[in-house]
Amino acid sequence: MSNTKNIVVLVSGGGTNLQALIDAQSRGELGCGKISCVISSKADAYALTRAKNNGIKTRTLIRKDYADIASYSRAMRDALIEEKADVVVYAGFMTILDENVCDAFVNKMINVHPALIPSFCGKGYYGLHVHEEALKKGVKVSGATVHFVTAECDAGPIILQKAVEVFDGDTPETLQKRIMEQAEWKILPMAVRLLCDDKIVIKDGKTYIKS
Ligand code: GAR
Repeated sequence: MSNTKNIVVLVSGGGTNLQALIDAQSRGELGCGKISCVISSKADAYALTRAKNNGIKTRTLIRKDYADIASYSRAMRDALIEEKADVVVYAGFMTILDENVCDAFVNKMINVHPALIPSFCGKGYYGLHVHEEALKKGVKVSGATVHFVTAECDAGPIILQKAVEVFDGDTPETLQKRIMEQAEWKILPMAVRLLCDDKIVIKDGKTYIKS
């Protein structure tokens, strides 16, 4: 019996984090994990092209085709079950799913957030807006966080974080690019590997990495 774990990646946009996962997989760096499907909340997400270019199955589940978050979440849960997802990765996925999904995939779903949680996170903090707020505040370091997804936005146990320097003259775009290059594209594949290889222990809301 194979112990390969199906990784389903949820996307909404450009998909550079998906690309980092695809590249890690081709270097043999996802451990027991294999990207088996990419599901997009937007029909025109470039992430879908990246998946197709790499022979990965794609599906679209368009948020505006559903009346509310509960019905969208139920449809997503059904799609994830149908795809036999063992691990679910939010890679620039811009919809907050409710407990219909979170309860079905407890400790199996992770998200990459472009800031050092608990700073600049929660409802309304996504994409470029996160970096706009960090620059407005004048922080000297920002970074990225990979954490477990729970029904509360950006509040699940933290798995990995990486700090990135903020420079005078940064724009939201330059800061976003540096954080992606130096942090997100590195820690997301690392966290996926740790999860696929059962190396993460959660205790009292905190994570510990098994050696
Ligand atoms: C990334 O910076 C990701 O961390 C962020 O959106 C960008 C997506 O880029 N996600 C969030 O803000 C979620 N709250 P990508 O599509 O190129 O991976």
